[in-house]
Amino acid sequence: ISLTALNTLGLNQHCASLVEVTSKNELITRCIELYQQQNPMLILGGGSNLVFTDDFQGTVVKVSTTGIVIDQDDDFYYLTVQAGENWHHLVEYCLSREIYGLENMALIPGTVGAAPIQNIGAYGVEFNRFCHQIQFLQLDTGKLVYFDNDQCHFDYRESIFKQQLKNLAVITEVTLKLAKQWQAVTNYGPLQHLDPATVTARQIFDCVCHVRQSKLPDPKKLGNVGSFFKNPVVSIDVYNTLKTRYAALVGYPQGDDHYKLAAGWLIEQAGLKGFNIGDAAVHQEQALVLVNLGNASGKEVCQLALYVIQTVFNKFGVRLQPEPRILGSAGEIDINE
Ligand code: EPU
Repeated sequence: ISLTALNTLGLNQHCASLVEVTSKNELITRCIELYQQQNPMLILGGGSNLVFTDDFQGTVVKVSTTGIVIDQDDDFYYLTVQAGENWHHLVEYCLSREIYGLENMALIPGTVGAAPIQNIGAYGVEFNRFCHQIQFLQLDTGKLVYFDNDQCHFDYRESIFKQQLKNLAVITEVTLKLAKQWQAVTNYGPLQHLDPATVTARQIFDCVCHVRQSKLPDPKKLGNVGSFFKNPVVSIDVYNTLKTRYAALVGYPQGDDHYKLAAGWLIEQAGLKGFNIGDAAVHQEQALVLVNLGNASGKEVCQLALYVIQTVFNKFGVRLQPEPRILGSAGEIDINE
C-alpha cells in the first residue's frame, strides 16, 4: 500500500497494511489489538512531520476521528477536539465563532492529535499556552488516561509524548482552554507592525497566513515537512562568541542565560540555500525547510540533512537537531542510523 499521498514530503514508500479509523472506539480497539500482536504500528495524523526512509513493515493507523465540543464557564471556552481533526480547520472554526487565541498558529499542517506531541508553535505562540487536558490511550495497560498541562512536560518542540511515552501513548482527544478575555500576541518579527491595542484576531490570522504562504512551500506543490531542524538553544557564552565573529547572527534570549539561534540563518550563511542531493534540496526561500523536488527518497533527504548538520557544525560549532520524526522499516530511528 502506497504511503506517498499520506506524507507531505511525498516520499514514495509503502506499508504492509493500512487502517483508517473514524471513531474513537475503533481507534482504541485497533491500537490495543496491534499492540498485543506486537505488530509494528505507526499512528498517522497529517503525515506532515514524518520522513519515511524505507517501506514500513507494519500497520499504519490513519487517525480520521472528528468532532469538536464547546463548553464554557465565566472566563473560558473549553474545546474538546477529536485527534483526527485538521489543525487549521480548528483555528478557522474558532475564529468564526469568535473564540480567539489560536490565530498565530494558522496554517500549521497536521492534525489536532499530533499538535501536543511536538508542541507545535508559530509567530510567538505555542500549543501548550492553550492546552487544558490530553486524553490518550496507554497501550501497555489498555486504559484511557488524562494528563493536565504540567504532566505533558511541554517544551520547545518537545513533550512527554516524544520522550517517556514514545510508542506507548495514542492521543485520542485534546481539550483546549481559551480565555474569553482575548489578548493579542504581536511581538514576533512580521507581526510587530500590528498595534496590539486595536488589532483583531482576524487581522493576525490574515497576516500569519500571508507570511506563511510567502515563505513556506505548499506541500501540495513542493513536498516538505516545514522546518527540518529545531532552532538550536545555546549558552550566552557561545552566543556572545559567535556574535563577535558574525555581527548579523540572529538569536533571541531564552531565559536568563541562553539564546535560541535562527537555524535558517546559520544554514543560509553556510552557503546551503538551494543546495541539493538528488531531488532533495534546501529550500530557496527558507533554508530551514528541506524540499522534495520530485523523486527524492527519504534516504536522500536524510543524507542532505546530515550534510547540512555537518556543514553548519564545521562553520559555527553548533549542532542542529532534526525536527521531524525519521521512520525506518519497523519504527522510529535516529537520523544517523
Ligand atoms: N532566516 C534567514 N535565512 C533563512 C531562514 C530564516 O536568515 O533561510 C532568519 C530570518 O530572517 C529571521 C529568522 O531567521 O530573522 C527566523 O526566521 P522565521 O521567522 O522564518 O522563523 P524560523 O525560526 O525559521 C520558526 C519555526 C517555524 C515557525 C516560524 C514562525 C522552528 C523550528 N521553526 O522558524 O515553525 O513557523 O518560526 O514562528 O522553530 C515548523 O516547526 O515546521 C515551522 C515551520
